[in-house]
Order: sequence, then structure tokens, then C-alpha cells
Amino acid sequence: MVSLDQTQLDEELDMTNIPEHIAIIMDGNGRWAQKRHLPRIAGHKQGMNTVKKITKAASDLGVKVLTLYAFSTENWKRPKDEVNYIMKLPVTFFNTFIPDLIKNNVRVNVMGYIDELPDATRDVVNKAIEDTKDCTGMVLNFALNYGSQAEITTAVQQIAKEVQAGQLSPEAISQETIEQHLMTHGLAPYSNPDLLVRTSGEERISNFLLWQIAYSEFVFVQDHWPDFGQQTLIDTIKIYQSRHRRYGGLNKK
Ligand code: IPE
Ligand code: IPE
Ligand code: MG
Repeated sequence: MVSLDQTQLDEELDMTNIPEHIAIIMDGNGRWAQKRHLPRIAGHKQGMNTVKKITKAASDLGVKVLTLYAFSTENWKRPKDEVNYIMKLPVTFFNTFIPDLIKNNVRVNVMGYIDELPDATRDVVNKAIEDTKDCTGMVLNFALNYGSQAEITTAVQQIAKEVQAGQLSPEAISQETIEQHLMTHGLAPYSNPDLLVRTSGEERISNFLLWQIAYSEFVFVQDHWPDFGQQTLIDTIKIYQSRHRRYGGLNKK
């Protein structure tokens, strides 16, 4: 794909205020396909190509972490055939895209209940993490079999065990203790998204990063994920740059 033109970008964006962590709820694959009288899985396949395109664009923009919600802990409720197809996509994705990721210095991270994935999916994901472990550029963080309520529940169980073992007193539990037990801990200092995007016009969170989005800026776009392009990404960042983040304080401007 074409690389982003630096002069054109400088005109469109404030390059000193690029969100460091962008999280995207990639929604609307099924509707994209249905609109074209195609099976839903055709939308997932096209969505994978969008992932490649947006990974490159975000990395070119200097984003530090790109988190993509690929499969939720609730998505197992879908028909078996659709779930099976989605579970095969990481295999195709990583088997074709690893050289590009390495070339772009992108490191793969995966958060979610990986042990519950089919063997082939888990193996390819672990291999992608291993193959890109020395990359020092953007982190491409897939949320795969991820759910925030499950994540928080697991964190509470781990903390309770530490208390039970006498390693921690209840009074010593702080916000940091909780953050250290969340799946985003390894992304520090970029654990929390600056910008949260959801495609396809739905305006809900669907169990994504409930703790971490406390002060994220939300942008909802109408495009279905397969139609989300480099310019859509730039447009969402422009909206982000027009916002004033106050964190409960007063606006400095
Ligand atoms: C998002 O697209 C991909 C996954 C949840 C795996 P959807 O499959 O949810 O597409 P819609 O929302 O049904 O159109
Ligand atoms: C959220 O989308 C999960 C992913 C994008 C992976 P869903 O399509 O599953 O969310 P709901 O069911 O519309 O809330
Ligand atoms: Mg959906």
C-alpha cells in the first residue's frame, strides 16, 4: 500500500498530538457483507484486509499502541460455522503478514483467554508474538476472546488469592494494584486508550476495556469496518484533536 505523504499529513493533522493508544471496536463486517448479498464470512475476510491497511497507517502516523477488538468472550454465541471461520482468520493473517509487520517494526501482542482458542489459532498467535518480539515500534494488540467483565473478574480472583496467602493486605489494594492485574498491564505506559473508535454506527462498548476507557475520547463512525480506510483513521484523529481532555480538572486553553 502507499505510504502516508508526510507533507499532506502535516497540513491535516497536528503531528505533535497523535493519540498514543488507539483502540478500535471493529464492527459491521456482517452487515457489510449482507448489503452485498454475500455471506457474513465475506465481511470478516474483507475486514482482515482492513486490519492490514490500518496497521500500516497507524504505524506510519507514530501511534504507539493499536488495540483491535477481534473477538469477544460473548462472540462464541454465534453460529458454529461463523465462529470456526473467524478462528481461522488469524492463521491466514499471520501467515501472510508477519514479514510486513517485521519490516514495519510492529510488535504483536494478544490479550484475551488464549487457552480457550482452537489449537491452530493459539499456536499461530503465539508464533506471531515470538516472531515480532524484538520489534520496537508500534504494538499491534489484538483483543481475542477478550471481555472486560471476565478480565476484571480474573483480576479480582488473583488479588483475593494474594490477600489469602498473606502477600497483600486489603488496605494496600490500590488503583495500581488493579491495573497491574489487568490484561493491558504489559502495555504500560500506554495501557489506557486515548482514543476509542467504534465503526458501523453502533454506540456501545460491548464489554471492551471498561476500566481502561475511564478518560478515553470516543469517536463513533458510520462506516462498516471493511470500508474503514486510511482517510477515516485520519478523520477520527482530527476529531480527537478537536477535543479538550480535562480529566476532571479545568481546561488549560
Ligand atoms: C465485527 O463485525 C466482527 C466480530 C464481532 C467478530 P460483526 O460480525 O459484528 O458484524 P455485524 O455487527 O453483525 O454487522
Ligand atoms: C463487539 O461487536 C465485538 C467485536 C467487535 C469483536 P459485537 O458485534 O459482538 O457487539 P454487539 O453484539 O453488537 O454488542
Ligand atoms: Mg457486530
